[in-house]
Amino acid sequence: MLSPFPLGRPARMAVMASGRGTNLEALLEAFPPQNPWGEVVLVLSDNPEAYALKRASRRGVEAVAIPWRGRKAFEREALDLLRARGVDLVLLAGFMRLLSPGFVEPWYGRLLNIHPSLLPAYPGLHVHRRVLEAGERETGSTVHFVDQGMDTGPIVLQGRVPVLPGDTPETLERRVLFLEHRLYPRAVRLVLSGLAFPPGEGLKALLGEAWPRFQGLSPREKPLYLRAAALLSAWGLGGLVPAALMGQGGDWGRGAFLTAHLLAEDHPALRRELAELPEEVRLRAEEALRRVESPL
Ligand code: GRF
Repeated sequence: MLSPFPLGRPARMAVMASGRGTNLEALLEAFPPQNPWGEVVLVLSDNPEAYALKRASRRGVEAVAIPWRGRKAFEREALDLLRARGVDLVLLAGFMRLLSPGFVEPWYGRLLNIHPSLLPAYPGLHVHRRVLEAGERETGSTVHFVDQGMDTGPIVLQGRVPVLPGDTPETLERRVLFLEHRLYPRAVRLVLSGLAFPPGEGLKALLGEAWPRFQGLSPREKPLYLRAAALLSAWGLGGLVPAALMGQGGDWGRGAFLTAHLLAEDHPALRRELAELPEEVRLRAEEALRRVESPL
C-alpha cells in the first residue's frame, strides 16, 4: 500500500500549535464541520496561553492545553488524547517543541508540519532573518511529513514568493504567512487523497526498475514523481509507472506528470498541453484536479 489514505470517509484531524495560530485558523476555515474532506476535531497546545486555543474554542472545536512538564509526560498525554478522539491525521502548525521518536514513529505518514522556508534550505528558527542575510531572491514555505530530524521529513508541497528590495523579516513573514494559509490546506487535501505519502516499500515495488532513478532525485523533485506514480496507480495503470518515470509512459505518462505538476501549482502552459491530450487521459486528469482543487 502506498498511503493510508484515502479513508473513504471524512478524516478526523488534530492541530498542534504553540502560539498565535493563524495557520490553525486557515485550517479551521478550510475544513469546517461536515465537509467531505474531514474536520479538525481537536486542538492541542503545550502553552496554556496560546491564542490558538482561543481560536479553536471560538469555533466550538475542542481545545486542550497540556502544560509542558517535560517531553515524556506531554507526549504520553497527547498520544492518549489523539487515540481517544480517533484522530487520523495530525497537523503541526507553529508547534515549537521537537517530538521524540516515540511520538513520531507511530504517526509517521500521518503527521505533517509547515515550515516557512524552501526546505531543505533554512531549517530551524529565525528563517526570514537568515534568508535576508544570505541575500536570497526567493523564499517560500514547505509542508512536510515529520520524521525524527528537525524540519527534515519528506516534502508534500512547497510554495514560493519573491524576496524584494527593502524587505525586512516582518514584511517577509507576512508574505510567507499569506502563502502558508493556502498551501497547508492544499497539502492536506493531497495527503487525504492519497497523492502525497512518504516513500516506502509499496512505492519501491511500484517503481521497479525506476526506483534508483527516483532515489537519485532531490528532496524537492521527489513529490512530483510520487504524485505522478500515485495518479497512474489510481487510474489502474500501475504497470506503466516504471516507464512513465523514465519518460517513456506515452500520453498517460505525460498526463500523469502534467496533472502532478498542476496539483501543486497552476500553470497556463501546462493546462494547454493537458487540453491537447487524448480525451480519456484529459478526463481523468481533470477529475483529479477538480477533486483536489475544490476546497469543499
Ligand atoms: C508559521 O510560519 C509556520 O510555518 C511556522 O510557525 C509559524 C506559525 O504561525 N512553523 P501561526 O502560529 O500559524 O500564525
